[in-house]
Amino acid sequence: MNKQIILLPGDGVGTEIMESAKLVLNAVASEFGHSFALHQHAIGGDAIDQYGTPLPNETIKACQQADAILLGAVGGPKWDSLPANLRPEKGLLGIRKSLGLFANLRPVKGFTSLLHASPLKESVIKGSDILIIRELTGGLYFGKPSERRENGNAVVDTLYYQRSEMERIIDKAFQSAQIRRKHLTSVDKANVLESSRMWREIVNEKSKDYPDVTVEHLLVDAAAMKLVTQPNQFDVMVTENLFGDILSDEASVLTGSLGMLPSASIRSDGVGLYEPVHGSAPDIAGLGIANPLGMILSVAMMLRHTFHLEEEATEIEQAVHETLRQGYYTPDLHIKGGKQVSTKEMTAIVVENMTTKSVSDSICSM
Ligand code: NAD
Ligand code: IPM
Ligand code: MN
Repeated sequence: MNKQIILLPGDGVGTEIMESAKLVLNAVASEFGHSFALHQHAIGGDAIDQYGTPLPNETIKACQQADAILLGAVGGPKWDSLPANLRPEKGLLGIRKSLGLFANLRPVKGFTSLLHASPLKESVIKGSDILIIRELTGGLYFGKPSERRENGNAVVDTLYYQRSEMERIIDKAFQSAQIRRKHLTSVDKANVLESSRMWREIVNEKSKDYPDVTVEHLLVDAAAMKLVTQPNQFDVMVTENLFGDILSDEASVLTGSLGMLPSASIRSDGVGLYEPVHGSAPDIAGLGIANPLGMILSVAMMLRHTFHLEEEATEIEQAVHETLRQGYYTPDLHIKGGKQVSTKEMTAIVVENMTTKSVSDSICSM
């Protein structure tokens, strides 16, 4: 297989974990005889420093022509006081929007070796296996106007969705539930927001097209509570952009660390941008201790979902399981009786374990 992959390391730990992704991809290529051409481009603060904009046209063009995109993270204190349009985060929002990547899939699965790494009780998190599906190109993130008014004494952000934008993400969620445990939780704030009432209506209409899927509606405040008290009750969870952002960071606690979560941002034709859920982690950037597993698992998602390389993806996921089972962890985690390692050491161990095959579940059906 011959594929063009765009790498967007971005800022902070984004650059460190992108090195891990490259090593894993090279290992897959040489083991399975694939050719992955890796092209690095600038985004976020890195692009601001080099080109004066968080999303240069040449980065957009390269991404449009690519078979898949891998992104590290963007942002950091250096750029926090820039005007809204020049912030690193605009680069990330811009690439998602310009490629039409409306579905953000964030699988959250408890790793057996990490059950005691979570501040939550093992009995609560055991067996949890959730797919959070977050709408990614609408809602408060993109609604216009978004501005200060009345000489800076008032402000407006706009929550705007077209019916069709809600329909396509809700369809995606039903279809994902069909190939998983056939349970869909739709999360909204229908007791307050008009957008949520329309969302709920659409979920109810669509449920007639997917009679094999059981639907439950939860208000977002209660959903936040249930995620950490009864996470086993969830299978697929679908929600709008901002709720999904918040709930997925919360759900990462089930795995022991935000550094564990991968994600795929896709559109209907399978084109995808893959990135860990976490940010640039300025508090640990440059120390060489970032957890690379969210990124490495994002590479696995890319191989499975965009390239249909199931065996290769499963091999990476099994190697991650094995590495944790052997007791290796970065400082954001802790494994009793295990060994703390750096980003580079953890990556090398995963790569080594990729050639040691064993049987375990894949991370996610979506
Ligand atoms: P963050 O996700 O960067 O960090 C939150 C906490 O989790 C920090 O304590 C950090 O050290 C820890 N953490 C995150 N990833 C880790 C990893 N791989 N290994 C070990 N620990 C990890 O969120 P934040 O601090 O709120 O935001 C920092 C910057 O990142 C901001 O500029 C924000 O806009 C940006 N951000 C970017 C993305 C993205 O690019 N997708 C996502 C979230 C935040
Ligand atoms: C994420 C991030 C981004 C988001 C920010 C950096 C714009 O938090 O990918 O989860 O809110 O979508
Ligand atoms: Mn986020």
